[in-house]
Amino acid sequence: MTTSRPKGQRIILRRHPAQELLPSDFDLETQEAPEVTPRKFLVKNMFVSVDPMLRVYIDAAPLGGLMPPLPPGTTIPGPAVGEVIESRNADFAVGDLVEGRFGWQDYALSDGTGVRRINTALGAPENALGIGGLPGFTAYVGLNAAGGVRPGQNFLVSGAAGAVGSVAGPLIKSRGGRAVGIVSGAEKKRYLTEQAGYAAAADRTAPDFLDQLKTALPDGADVYFDNVGGPMLATILPFLARNALVLISGLMAQYQAGPETGPDHLPEVLRAVMGKNIRIQSFTQFGQDAQRPAFEAEIAELVGSGALKPELHIEQGLERLPEAMCGLFKNSVPGKVIVRTTQA
Ligand SMILES: NC(=O)c1ccc[n+]([C@@H]2O[C@H](COP(=O)([O-])OP(=O)(O)OC[C@H]3O[C@@H](n4cnc5c(N)ncnc54)[C@H](OP(=O)(O)O)[C@@H]3O)[C@@H](O)[C@H]2O)c1
Repeated sequence: MTTSRPKGQRIILRRHPAQELLPSDFDLETQEAPEVTPRKFLVKNMFVSVDPMLRVYIDAAPLGGLMPPLPPGTTIPGPAVGEVIESRNADFAVGDLVEGRFGWQDYALSDGTGVRRINTALGAPENALGIGGLPGFTAYVGLNAAGGVRPGQNFLVSGAAGAVGSVAGPLIKSRGGRAVGIVSGAEKKRYLTEQAGYAAAADRTAPDFLDQLKTALPDGADVYFDNVGGPMLATILPFLARNALVLISGLMAQYQAGPETGPDHLPEVLRAVMGKNIRIQSFTQFGQDAQRPAFEAEIAELVGSGALKPELHIEQGLERLPEAMCGLFKNSVPGKVIVRTTQA
């Protein structure tokens, strides 16, 4: 006799986006929870992360063909937080709250690879997708890749009110540095200086954006922590100090871009690189798990002292994921965007 399995939903890639991501690039499917085979456990997702990097994975030619494309029909991957509801794995028991790459679905089968128990010192379980998850860890690893934070050092952060930037600010401040953020809109500017540890902010949509940067960075920025790429680098070159480091975290402004048609900024970038002795370097948090214990300890301390306030934007229902993902590129909100897949 076969026992009936619980039914849930999952979101799959319908087709590779032509350029701008659309909700119709995804499909919602009903699925049965998979059978739990030996050494596996079944997770019921509670919160699913909406990550800009997913836009790269679902492209027809990710990073210009440097990565293999995700085949249509695949469940959208990515981090989620859930509860173990069945287990045949000695390391994970029913009732454990866990975070892992469980994907955009209600039920995920796991063998425990890359799965972490929720660290309650970081506050609510869903913080494991924000300050204590991929974005927070990216901010932490990035600052280490920049050589740490020296007292008085000036950091300019683009996409500063986003999930990564909103952790970078408090980390820079608590280590004695000075963070200046680039955002769009007055609301996010206020968020940065009033809640996210930034000393100053500049609104990239304001007519006096360059004056705002000039006032915020009288001595220039020692590090440009770049979350967006695109033409912003050429714009901020005059505000970099001599010997500055440009640290490429991500290319938010380029993930949806088609063939490059704008002005060629390369000559002015190279002039500044030579004239100011600027270094450009990228980093990845992948493969940096050895840094996780120190990362979680530092984040827990900042949360405990109130220096870091988790900012979560929570949407309700698995079916909201495609819209929420498209929204990252159109009308982004402060902090980390996640979707609650269970009833509130
Ligand atoms: N290196 C790594 O290991 C690693 C790991 C994870 C993520 N990342 C990267 O880190 C970056 C930030 O991720 P996140 O989770 O913080 O993203 P997020 O929460 O979506 O925030 C990104 C910010 O980028 C800005 N932005 C969006 N579209 C833009 C455009 N076309 N031009 C200029 N700015 C734009 C928005 O800020 P405003 O509109 O307010 O300016 C938004 O707040 C992404 O590029 C991501 O791929 C890197």
